[in-house]
Amino acid sequence: MGTQALCTEYDLEEEDPFFTSDVEKVGRSRNTYEHQLRKRRLVLGVAIGVGSVALVALIIGLAWAMGHRKLDYICPSAYDTTRPNLVFFVVGDWGRSGNANQRRVARLMGDVAECLPPEFIISTGDNFYPSGLSSPQDPLFDASFSQVYTGPRMQVPWYAVMGNHDYGDNVDASLLNSGRCLAAPPSAEACTSRCCISPWWQTVPDLAARDLRWNATMGGVLTRRFKLGVAGTLDILFMDTNPFIQSYQNRSWSSFLRGVSSQDSQAIQAQLQTQLNASVASGSSWRLVVGHHPVRSYGKHCMEDDKNNCDDMQFMRPWLRSYRVAAYINGHEHDQQLLKYPEDQVYYVVSGAGSDTREGEFDSLLPEKRANALFLSDAQGFLAVVFAGGTMRLHFYTIRQRGPAYTATVNRPA
Ligand SMILES: *[C@@H]1O[C@H](CO)[C@@H](O)[C@H](O)[C@H]1NC(C)=O
Ligand SMILES: *[C@@H]1O[C@H](CO)[C@@H](O)[C@H](O)[C@H]1NC(C)=O
Ligand SMILES: *[C@@H]1O[C@H](CO)[C@@H](O)[C@H](O)[C@H]1NC(C)=O
Repeated sequence: MGTQALCTEYDLEEEDPFFTSDVEKVGRSRNTYEHQLRKRRLVLGVAIGVGSVALVALIIGLAWAMGHRKLDYICPSAYDTTRPNLVFFVVGDWGRSGNANQRRVARLMGDVAECLPPEFIISTGDNFYPSGLSSPQDPLFDASFSQVYTGPRMQVPWYAVMGNHDYGDNVDASLLNSGRCLAAPPSAEACTSRCCISPWWQTVPDLAARDLRWNATMGGVLTRRFKLGVAGTLDILFMDTNPFIQSYQNRSWSSFLRGVSSQDSQAIQAQLQTQLNASVASGSSWRLVVGHHPVRSYGKHCMEDDKNNCDDMQFMRPWLRSYRVAAYINGHEHDQQLLKYPEDQVYYVVSGAGSDTREGEFDSLLPEKRANALFLSDAQGFLAVVFAGGTMRLHFYTIRQRGPAYTATVNRPA
């Protein structure tokens, strides 16, 4: 009651703020034109302020998002916190001029590399479809390699072995019939003015000079040694398996420059045995062997009787066992597999899903026909290998999962 009385008795201009109550102030000022104006200005001001802040936040957010594209894939570090001694990737059967499937895997690799940076990347072969490189200047090298694996964390050495397509399998016969490409060049010199398809171009310095990451081997076995800190050393033997596949010997491409018919499979066997032996003798703690063709596989190259690559490669099994090789890693099958046989400590790893895969490849395999498979996948993907805490972890990534589709922890063979 008292407040209403005050309201009528006081001149608004002369009011003493000490004598007006809150209720009165609100009730009165609500009706002043000045207040309406102030309120509008305030609302406008707040709106502009909020709008500006939002705009700035949006711009900063967009800039950040462009610089740090959200990763679609989960890092193993989210659950695997042991500090790695060595990380490397394995990818196979990829070089398809950057088609959609190849780019999908390249992006997956680039994303995983952001949180699990590899020291190097292994290619299990079929680097350049359809039939390898025809010279050290072949533009396929850019289209299938340099322009595809552009992730900032993939600018590391690429250690590649050769696949049958690198040797010229699937060559377009018209290239040979028209005389554009030489089917049986007498020497490398004959190739300076003519097209010659050859895996050898992948190993020459002219090619490596085009992309310093590239380092390929062919026609033999090469051991590379890597340090694992307190866990010792890892020897990886890179092997050319093409000369062992019987059915390649009389193909149209067998007589290409340094083709399979000019390779000496006996000599390669001897190199493999000597280098495995040397690795064991030197006390290296871990050994892996990398080749293109499978020694064991549930894919089509070993399940179809007429062209069973695993029969041709069978000589490897006792050696892998006796020289205590932790895993044999190959491509050729356009899928990913991890096989472990009870009689054998060796893990058989297929990583050949770098571009086009064979969807449904394993669908008709009855459980008893795949009894030794720990993991089979027909999806595109790659393998991340992590040495940490004295073990080797194999993270199989596919484009279908946000994290590794399968992880195996492998102990050092006793
Ligand atoms: C490739 O690797 C071999 C063996 O480690 C090395 O000797 C050679 O210099 C490398 N080549 C290039 C081009 O990096
Ligand atoms: C080579 O080709 C001939 C005929 O094309 C075939 O009969 C023979 O079995 C082939 N040899 C090998 C080792 O594949
Ligand atoms: C393996 O190495 C040992 C020495 O450590 C040697 O006596 C033996 O002859 C070698 N065997 C082969 C097959 O190279």
